Amino acid sequence: MDTGRSGRIRKVCVVGASGKLGRYLVSRALDRGWEVVGVCRERSVGKLDGFADRITVVPGDTNDPEVIRRAVAGCDGVLTVLVPWGVRQYSSGTARAVLDHAEPGARLVFSCGWHVPRDDKDRYTRTFTASVRIVTLLSRALRVVDVDDQLAAARLIFASDRRWTLVRASDLEEGESQGLPVWTRHVGDPLLKSNLTRRVDFALFMVEALTDDTLVHEAPAIVGRLAPSVLARRDES
Ligand SMILES: NC(=O)c1ccc[n+]([C@@H]2O[C@H](COP(=O)([O-])OP(=O)(O)OC[C@H]3O[C@@H](n4cnc5c(N)ncnc54)[C@H](OP(=O)(O)O)[C@@H]3O)[C@@H](O)[C@H]2O)c1
Repeated sequence: MDTGRSGRIRKVCVVGASGKLGRYLVSRALDRGWEVVGVCRERSVGKLDGFADRITVVPGDTNDPEVIRRAVAGCDGVLTVLVPWGVRQYSSGTARAVLDHAEPGARLVFSCGWHVPRDDKDRYTRTFTASVRIVTLLSRALRVVDVDDQLAAARLIFASDRRWTLVRASDLEEGESQGLPVWTRHVGDPLLKSNLTRRVDFALFMVEALTDDTLVHEAPAIVGRLAPSVLARRDES
């Protein structure tokens, strides 16, 4: 059993660094003065030009164990954007590579959406479940995305004794930061009803989680701190 503590973060790896969320994660990590290694597909390296000379880029598929092994060496934390692209276990392969190769005791923070259940206490509306099912079937038929593979990735994470957090986000939007999102342990809490978070704040939550031991082995479902459902709860109390 891995019982290491987060300790001080000096160096982090961002897996999936070239996407929208990944670039926010890189920015936030650099703001904290951490050394950053980014992993992205070879074709996307140019998307990280804005960080030239400030980060080390390891090009390659994020589900390639050898790429991940090199990238996470010496990192105290790993921030992983889990995406279910294609039908070749991209998400679960990425999660497995990070879980297998991260340094002992490293803090591992992964991203996904609310559609990933933590356990049977998550409550979904019938409309939500139906729309996820339709997207899952359609995208798999077109061989574009395999949503079920993101669920497989989550199961690997939940079964791991690493120091993980799986952050489950609401729908996302662009815009200025509103501050740290609020979270609940289970989907279905009325606090989450507004179902909207700024992508920049999703990144903030993931970066903060690296040094928040109360989030180890949690799968927080997050929503923007200025979302109407959050403000309504505040007014009640
Ligand atoms: N979009 C939403 O509304 C939403 C809602 C809730 C949760 N989330 C979660 O938020 C995270 C980020 O999602 P996002 O939608 O905001 O996207 P994003 O940050 O733009 O990231 C998309 C990622 O997918 C990669 N990618 C794109 N096409 C690919 C392909 N064919 N093969 C392999 N990788 C490919 C991109 O890499 P390149 O740069 O190489 O293209 C990039 O790393 C995910 O974990 C997602 O589950 C998203």
